[in-house]
Amino acid sequence: MNTVLILLVLAETFNGITSWVLETDPESDYSNVKNFQWTTDSSALQKFSHLEQLHFINATIDTVTQNFKNQLKNCVWLKFTGGKVKTVYMNSKLSMLNLQDTSTEKVIIEPGQEYILGTLVISRSRLTRIPHNINQLKQMNRLDIMDSWIETVLLNDLDGLDNLYEINLSGNRIRRIDSNGLISFPKLFRLKLQNNQLQQLDTCRWSMPELFEFLLNNNRLTHFAIGHFSSLNHLTLASNPLNCAWLKSLVSYRSFFYHDIYTCDESSQGDFGLHCPSNLGESNDKNANRDADLTGRFQKIDTALQKLEAKLSEQRNMVNDIIESIYRTDVERAFESRRIIFPS
Ligand SMILES: *[C@@H]1O[C@H](CO)[C@@H](O)[C@H](O)[C@H]1NC(C)=O
Ligand SMILES: *[C@@H]1O[C@H](CO)[C@@H](O)[C@H](O)[C@H]1NC(C)=O
Repeated sequence: MNTVLILLVLAETFNGITSWVLETDPESDYSNVKNFQWTTDSSALQKFSHLEQLHFINATIDTVTQNFKNQLKNCVWLKFTGGKVKTVYMNSKLSMLNLQDTSTEKVIIEPGQEYILGTLVISRSRLTRIPHNINQLKQMNRLDIMDSWIETVLLNDLDGLDNLYEINLSGNRIRRIDSNGLISFPKLFRLKLQNNQLQQLDTCRWSMPELFEFLLNNNRLTHFAIGHFSSLNHLTLASNPLNCAWLKSLVSYRSFFYHDIYTCDESSQGDFGLHCPSNLGESNDKNANRDADLTGRFQKIDTALQKLEAKLSEQRNMVNDIIESIYRTDVERAFESRRIIFPS
């Protein structure tokens, strides 16, 4: 850190405690702000308002509010390292937000704004889930929440984030990854789920045609469907209690670039395939086909009923004609007989 050029060192005193320091590292584009305290140092924010990239080190801020960010008028790149930043409101003007080791408990994303955020990196936080409304961050291509407390993931929460290129959820406590219906990430290239507690991975409804790197080492997986990841090239599976027969078929099916040490668990029973049941991926289409088929059939029945009705009414007319002609003959006959009985 000898090369650190101290542009500005401002020490303000509050109850005798020295507070923040601003310095610019000539080797990077951003400025470091050390030991910033909200709200003690709130008036100082304006002094950073010309900066586009800010790195707060060991800041103590209960909540990074919209007002906090709005005072940093030109800031689009915001990073916090260390200290304590409990709650962060996402701001629509940020293109990058990084929280490292900040004991963050909550990231709040308010719906109905045009967010431009491309990168969200959070590590060593206290988040127990992926933040609500994360699918509002439509521009996001990188979502990394690592070494935090996440236990379950519902992939539908990320629905519509079609620009995602990387998801890194390594080092959490993830036991399950759920999804309702087909989930599609058209550009996802890298999915890192290593160092979690995954026991099952129901991948059959995941559509990830570009997935190239899939890291799963240090979990509790015995097997999962993998055959439909057609672009997959890098795979790590070490330190999982893999089913031996499944592993054997995987290794003979395709070779992957990362040959981490594959071991298997002899006690794992069962016959597990590499592929999804063939009808699963298509079941949505099938339902649609079945509906169309039923509609078609109903239309046919309808047409048949109309024809039947037409025929019935034709027959009814015919019957009427017959009755009428019988009646006419009877009347005529009666008239005739009357003529006989009562000749004029
Ligand atoms: C931040 O705080 C930690 C722990 O108190 C300390 O070890 C570290 O040196 C501090 N960093 C800076 C750059 O002041
Ligand atoms: C993502 O996961 C890897 C582990 O493979 C970790 O080393 C890396 O720092 C993570 N995130 C980023 C910010 O690239």
